Amino acid sequence: MKSPAYYADFLRRRFTLRPTTAIVLGSGFAPFGETLDAPEIVPFGELEEFPHSTAPGHPGRFLAGTVKGVPVLCLQGRLHYYEGYTMEQVVLPIRVMKAFGIQNVILTNAAGAINLNFHPGEVMLITDHINFMGTNPLIGPNDNRLGERFPDMTQAYSPRLQQLARDCAKRLNIPLREGVYLGCTGPSFETPAEIRAFRTLGADAVAMSLVPETIAAVHCGVEVLGLSFLSNLAAGVSGRPLSGEEVNQAAEENRPMLTKLLSEVLAEMGRNPESTKG
Ligand code: HPA
Repeated sequence: MKSPAYYADFLRRRFTLRPTTAIVLGSGFAPFGETLDAPEIVPFGELEEFPHSTAPGHPGRFLAGTVKGVPVLCLQGRLHYYEGYTMEQVVLPIRVMKAFGIQNVILTNAAGAINLNFHPGEVMLITDHINFMGTNPLIGPNDNRLGERFPDMTQAYSPRLQQLARDCAKRLNIPLREGVYLGCTGPSFETPAEIRAFRTLGADAVAMSLVPETIAAVHCGVEVLGLSFLSNLAAGVSGRPLSGEEVNQAAEENRPMLTKLLSEVLAEMGRNPESTKG
């Protein structure tokens, strides 16, 4: 694996656009990449020693294109800890984006609904997270050029971007849930007892990604918006077994709503890249 700056230089040579806003497409979200106008594409395979994406439905490439005339960078195919990557590899795309010039990012994923008032097919705005992965991407020597040793996580999910997302959803008449996201390593789904425990801990949704990227983004000063698509009820809630296909199918059925919401939010973020944070 080469340095984030190395990959960012490569992308700058390949892309004519210079977006400041990015989106990481989680499970079921990858087809959103196809909706970018005039996308320029760099598959991970063209980036020397870059980890390749192995999860189903994650093609593994960077796209640069426009949404409503606004340039955006898009990661189609995230790297998951459960694939066997190190935490440093999992957060590499975030650091590459930072080095490329990205100021704010939407992190998306599909998640199981823990909150009994939430339903599959809804979108949850992430207001905070619980790191239940048992590790942290910042463990190890701190790179002071990237960020400080002990980054504050009080407002990990930017209040400014949360409000921007609420305003967009309201304009589009798309109901937006809000809650605390809990990240597990996977790849096994949770047990019903774990889900009951997570509910007691204050979690509203659960999945196997996103937390490491949020931590790395906060560390290097990239403003984060987190959106979870609730693809299913968490384990034990409905009594039915869970499957990866169910997750992708639910996303497919809600594709038009997800595309509308993401396009609107991305374009607004791209037009308002300024963060009040350092
Ligand atoms: N649990 C963990 N990860 C997930 C789920 C879930 O219920 N749904 C989508 N990703």
